[in-house]
Amino acid sequence: MSTAEGIFEPKVEPYRIAPETYVIPQLLEAPPVGMFYVNSMVITGTEPVLVDTGAPSNRQQWLDHAWSLVDPADVRWVFLTHDDHDHAGNVRQVMAACPNATLVTTWFSMARYAIDTEEFWMPFNRSRWVRDGESFQAGDRTLLAIRPPFFDNPTTRGLFDATTRVYWAADTFATAIPHPAEDAADLDAKAWREGMLLGNRLNHPWHLWLDAGKFSKHVDRVQDLDIDTAASCHAPTIHRGLIDEAFDLVRKVPELPPWEEPGQDFLEGIIAATTKPVVS
Ligand SMILES: [Fe+2]
Ligand SMILES: [Fe+2]
Repeated sequence: MSTAEGIFEPKVEPYRIAPETYVIPQLLEAPPVGMFYVNSMVITGTEPVLVDTGAPSNRQQWLDHAWSLVDPADVRWVFLTHDDHDHAGNVRQVMAACPNATLVTTWFSMARYAIDTEEFWMPFNRSRWVRDGESFQAGDRTLLAIRPPFFDNPTTRGLFDATTRVYWAADTFATAIPHPAEDAADLDAKAWREGMLLGNRLNHPWHLWLDAGKFSKHVDRVQDLDIDTAASCHAPTIHRGLIDEAFDLVRKVPELPPWEEPGQDFLEGIIAATTKPVVS
């Protein structure tokens, strides 16, 4: 959506990506490379599932959006891909609001989260631990926790819903975008490719030390799921027409040099542009 002046206004309303499956987006400006999403997902099946819980900076809007899609009393599962702030940022508020929900996490993720909060929080009796490669039943569907190609936290598992063939890829496919786009196909093809190669180097600097053959087998494990729709935290949704190209781009990343992030010069430019001169 754009204004009459042609300036893009971030669109941050939830949107449907597949039957009974929605993305809750947050959009952040990320100069000088454009914008990044901070997304979560909701599956409104017979036993509704929240997939990640958004960032603390967006708490009220995230909760409003989530409860516009599902009644908190109906939420049965809260699947955390990992304990990073942008994925687990509202998990305590969500678990407090959803008395019938079970937190789907892991031993290590729970330990990491517990020490990262001001008050020790380990809701053992409301949790279920699902490791990489394990599934759980959420009413009418089986959900498979499976590690995505790239990740920035050792506890990360993505989530594959075989009913809709939607895969939640957590941090994989992170893409710097020049303007809001719910669907990757709505971006200029070159901008999408470059934005994804940027995002996946920025967030996964360990790509430099990958054995291409071993990594390719790791990517196969997810690509072989036969995904129709790939949603993820930091990118527009990728539908079937671009899925193979998206995996091809991921496979290219190990061959690329590191992405050089902005340094002190850029920071000084921001300070100069935003600081008022001191009047004596
Ligand atoms: Fe992360
Ligand atoms: Fe993330």
